[in-house]
Amino acid sequence: MFLKCMLAAAAIVTSAVMEAAPFMTNVYGRDYVLLNGKWSAFTDLYDQGRKMEVYKNRKPQSNEEFYEYSFDGAMRLDVPGDWNSQYPELKYYEGTMWYARHFDAPTPNSFRNQDSEAAAITATGRTFLYFGAVSYRCMVYLNGELIASHEGGFTPFQVEVTGLLKDKDNFLCLEVSNRRTPDAIPAMNFDWWNYGGITRDVMLVSVPQVFVEDYFIRLDKNEPDLIHASVKLSCEVEREVVVEIPELKVRQAIMTDASGCGEVSFRVKKLKRWSPDAPKLYDVSVSGETDRVCEKIGFRNIVAEGERILVNGEPVFMRSVSFHEEIPQRMGRAFSQADASMLLSEAAALGVNMVRLAHYPQNEYTVRLAEQMGILLWEEIPVWQGINFTDEGTRAKAQTMLSEMIYRDRNRCAVGYWGVANETKPSAERNAFLDSLLHTGRSIDATRLYVAAFDLAYFEKSTGHFEMHDDFISNLDVVAVNKYMGWYHPWPVNPSDAVWDVAAGQPLIISEFGGEALYGQSGSDEMAGSWSEDYQARLYRDNLEMFRHIPNLAGVSPWVLFDFRSPYRFHPSNQDGWNRKGLVSDRGQRKKAWYIMRDWYASISRGE
Ligand code: GCU
Repeated sequence: MFLKCMLAAAAIVTSAVMEAAPFMTNVYGRDYVLLNGKWSAFTDLYDQGRKMEVYKNRKPQSNEEFYEYSFDGAMRLDVPGDWNSQYPELKYYEGTMWYARHFDAPTPNSFRNQDSEAAAITATGRTFLYFGAVSYRCMVYLNGELIASHEGGFTPFQVEVTGLLKDKDNFLCLEVSNRRTPDAIPAMNFDWWNYGGITRDVMLVSVPQVFVEDYFIRLDKNEPDLIHASVKLSCEVEREVVVEIPELKVRQAIMTDASGCGEVSFRVKKLKRWSPDAPKLYDVSVSGETDRVCEKIGFRNIVAEGERILVNGEPVFMRSVSFHEEIPQRMGRAFSQADASMLLSEAAALGVNMVRLAHYPQNEYTVRLAEQMGILLWEEIPVWQGINFTDEGTRAKAQTMLSEMIYRDRNRCAVGYWGVANETKPSAERNAFLDSLLHTGRSIDATRLYVAAFDLAYFEKSTGHFEMHDDFISNLDVVAVNKYMGWYHPWPVNPSDAVWDVAAGQPLIISEFGGEALYGQSGSDEMAGSWSEDYQARLYRDNLEMFRHIPNLAGVSPWVLFDFRSPYRFHPSNQDGWNRKGLVSDRGQRKKAWYIMRDWYASISRGE
């Protein structure tokens, strides 16, 4: 007998089939046990392990048996974490790594976010293994059986293990590879370190038989007081789901349709919209008949109107900066709350209201903390140079990565932009590839601004203007340009005489500019080759002067906040495997250009 729900007269009730999310929404708001910690591991450079069935973890039972592997006594790797930064001999390792650990099935009261109802349900509920990310591809084996595989180093995936767990001594084994391939995303080369490993949290999650699998609760794209709530149950059943926002006195019941989906829209009074200056978040709960998921959600509008970007109806200039998901001092992937805090606090000190999370979806701690701090985010998938746009399989992978990124973070109001590409060259195949991404993205989330960065703005002698000729850009909400005048190529004109005629009629963000400097290196500000802070500072001053003459400039994002590791960077003393375009060195030291950027952003904040 399903509860009949009385729907508020003000609610406009429609049932909508929500595409099934590839994993549950808001895993940290569920009942979970972390499987983080030290795992045993060994390298498998020639990919022999699968043939040897190492995932069965066999032990010799007689003197006729012997196995040329064992997890006992193997390396011990921290999970989450990349392997490159854990053993010196793994710094450059690109290949297969076998990870394994034992665990007992959790008892009902061992789950976090526990509440009494869940405790009772857990015993009869369902259990999922959830991985925050594994770089770059992996096969998952439980108790000797293959149960899942995933490709993509920066997005979550889950697999149901209900009924597969033994009370004691379950054996979880992952075959992980960070080997680069031409059909991957990113492909064969990229300007960041190819970290491999189980690089984010691993969890066992307990949910009831029927649970709220996915929801999307957001302010209308344009209306300041209209909230839409879409929900999807884990089963195709008609059940009541209740969305509550106590501070707004909202309690909206939704009856899902036969596909388990439902949607409601309702107007609210006295909504405090989230913004960088006032990052207001509300307690929101979504309750099914046997589960309840809570989290903080913010509500804001972000639109492109002509050449401006409006947040809650007001034009906002994007004072941005980029950073990789890397802690330079540790020379490793960032993965924790503390890591997120280090990166974002250094960005906040610069005076940003936005961060471009380069060049791939970063961990959920970073996204959630940025939201609490009032920092807008540009999140993107690593369609980064060298992608094979003619390969159908590659296109499908990009669509999957984009979907996974959006499903994970579309309830995060800090995310203002979904980025679909970085520095692609015009072609019919490229256009078709990116068009399919825009279609996929907008079918899941039509509220964000879709953007891509291009390095195609050139100085045209015939007109004396900077121009960009790429017929794809009109499909985007915002156009972004990476431009390295003074570094990869000289200034064709004086910065003060630079006239831009790029993406007229659309908002334009200069998504990358800058140059390299070794912290503490002084020298001529005339010579890029000096790798001096003085030259980098001069380059920044020149770019800031040029920005004053770009009519549709809606924001800038210097490349990059921190020096970061890259196999591209060969210079023995000035680089030594580091890209030195950081405003801050790999040891956290602020270079002269950092202060120039900080002061410029401060002046913009003051409306100067
Ligand atoms: C490119 C690219 C970055 C790269 C940067 C550089 O524009 O988008 O990922 O690190 O230039 O060359 O430093």
